[in-house]
Amino acid sequence: MSFEKDWREDAKRAAVEQALKRIRDGQIVGLGSGSTAAYAIRELGKRIATEGLNVLGIPTSYQSMFLAIESGIRLTTLNENPEIDIAIDGADQVSRDLNLIKGGGAALTREKIIDSAAKDLLIVVDETKIAAILDHPVPLEIFPIALQTSSKRIQQLGGKPILRQSLGKVGPVITDNNNFIIDVDFGVIKEPGNLENKLKTIPGIVETGLFLDMATEVYVGNKTTVHVLRKSII
Ligand code: A5P
Repeated sequence: MSFEKDWREDAKRAAVEQALKRIRDGQIVGLGSGSTAAYAIRELGKRIATEGLNVLGIPTSYQSMFLAIESGIRLTTLNENPEIDIAIDGADQVSRDLNLIKGGGAALTREKIIDSAAKDLLIVVDETKIAAILDHPVPLEIFPIALQTSSKRIQQLGGKPILRQSLGKVGPVITDNNNFIIDVDFGVIKEPGNLENKLKTIPGIVETGLFLDMATEVYVGNKTTVHVLRKSII
């Protein structure tokens, strides 16, 4: 592994450790998806084993479900426990005002449902994910029969959609909900709320990777330390 990759993994792990200190006995915990969330799930499993921490997890993907089972985390569902105390998740990009782009792991729909049901959403990233303004391609989960119609509408909004291809099978990625993912380059997203509202009116878009006004805290790991960004309460 190159030094560049190495420090990012260490930074993610260090930031996860800090974020996990927020988890208390008796809590319902949303379990994010992706490589950073995977560190968090494994660490949470260790705390359960060593400290006897008593929590229930709600996974945001098959990845986090299987990892949680392997790590000894007891699971529940949003229907049994619709109010989540705390969720821990990663992100693909975080703006200074704590808006997020998520969905690099194609789990955005379940992530958005579960993360938004959490009283506190803790996001963990390495510092390369922080940007002054969002400009990362936005993943969208698309109902398959609407691929062409929704792509056309997205282009009319100025986006350049690309159907995400699978690495483990031929053809496109199929999500945990049996849909497609398109990654849409909108350039610099000056008004993410406006874009989100417009995307939500297009039939066939199941969910967007814009997670706006949701994060409570962002734990940012860099080469030497971890700092925490908090939503300023006006
Ligand atoms: C999963 O769909 C995503 O939202 C991930 O949380 C996001 O892509 C960050 O992943 P990494 O932690 O692997 O960078």
